[in-house]
Amino acid sequence: MNQTAETRDAAGEPTLTLPASTVLDPAAAPGLRWGVISPGHIGDQFTATAHRATASRVASVVSRSAERAGAFAARHGIERSFDAVEDMLAAGGLDAVYIASPHAQHHALARPVLEAGVPVLVEKAFTLNSGQARELLDLAQRRGVFAMEAMWARFLPQYDVLRQVLASGMLGEIVEVAADHGQSFPEDPAHRMYAPELGGGALLDLGVYPLSFAQMVLGDLTDLAVRGDLTSTGVDAYVALLARGADGGRARLSSTLNARTPTQAVVSGTAGSAHLSGAFFAPGTLTVTLLDGRSASFSHPGAPGDGMAYEIAESARRITAGELESPLMSWYDTLSVMSTMDAVRAELGVVYPGEESA
Ligand SMILES: NC(=O)c1ccc[n+]([C@@H]2O[C@H](COP(=O)([O-])OP(=O)(O)OC[C@H]3O[C@@H](n4cnc5c(N)ncnc54)[C@H](OP(=O)(O)O)[C@@H]3O)[C@@H](O)[C@H]2O)c1
Repeated sequence: MNQTAETRDAAGEPTLTLPASTVLDPAAAPGLRWGVISPGHIGDQFTATAHRATASRVASVVSRSAERAGAFAARHGIERSFDAVEDMLAAGGLDAVYIASPHAQHHALARPVLEAGVPVLVEKAFTLNSGQARELLDLAQRRGVFAMEAMWARFLPQYDVLRQVLASGMLGEIVEVAADHGQSFPEDPAHRMYAPELGGGALLDLGVYPLSFAQMVLGDLTDLAVRGDLTSTGVDAYVALLARGADGGRARLSSTLNARTPTQAVVSGTAGSAHLSGAFFAPGTLTVTLLDGRSASFSHPGAPGDGMAYEIAESARRITAGELESPLMSWYDTLSVMSTMDAVRAELGVVYPGEESA
């Protein structure tokens, strides 16, 4: 891991130098042949980014409609299109599969892929609840197959720099992680953000980012205090969470699907703070400010889609090395985040179809 080096300015005063990013060029990662399941908004972005910024290629696509699969394949120059997951798996020739359906369908779509022994990258939220997540990860373990939640923020260069800053102790003892993620979605009961049968609600789609960020910095979250409001469809419209991290420090997080909030994250310690801006989960800027007045920034600008190249490259490197998971978004981390979301939803009374008897 890089160490921070202290330099001096023209007046001889010490300046602050941040560690260099250790993240490798995504274009240099091994190229895999991917299958994409569910060619919606993010499936489109994943495919375009893979083709533009990595050596990976999407070789197959599955939609519930042969027509939509065919149109997506034509748009991206994909060799094969299918209207059933089983047909894509039977055709073979894939190194990995990316699942980009609404959350409620992640579990059912990922299972046959893992059963076929094919590595899988599953969009966030990994599943509807921790029970489904554990079942998929147990299956991955039994089959000896790679699986990872596509929490793309964790693979960005500024996150690598932040993890090094935290490990160096530069910020002192961590007191608080504050993060918010709100976006404005017009009320539409059929939209996946509002529909319980598609895993709707702010928490699983938007709140998962602040929560996963806090878990990365503080460890497992306990001692939860939750407040929120529900939509007319019975999913969470707003959720605020106070928690304590296993490694010390508190989390103060919020999420809503009714308003665009600043989308900032700040880690505050006894010796200074680290601020991720430009939407904290996307390419942007990390600024570290110490109590003694020194400050330094690391910028990694770009369009949100550019950021996805890092998770594609991380998957390709781990899969090629025969590893089952990535330490940057481990199975433990996914289960920890999913368990916290279960607890938050229990407080709010958000229950998805099929969970009633659980
Ligand atoms: N990483 C990121 O930045 C990011 C951003 C946005 C979303 N996401 C995640 O990606 C996933 C999909 O989000 P999205 O915005 O891409 O959604 P979307 O545009 O609605 O696309 C989802 C696709 O899933 C397919 N699908 C399969 N079963 C479905 C069902 N029962 N009902 C509706 N659609 C179904 C549909 O394609 P066919 O009908 O053609 O099969 C649909 O186009 C979510 O888990 C979300 O959290 C990630």
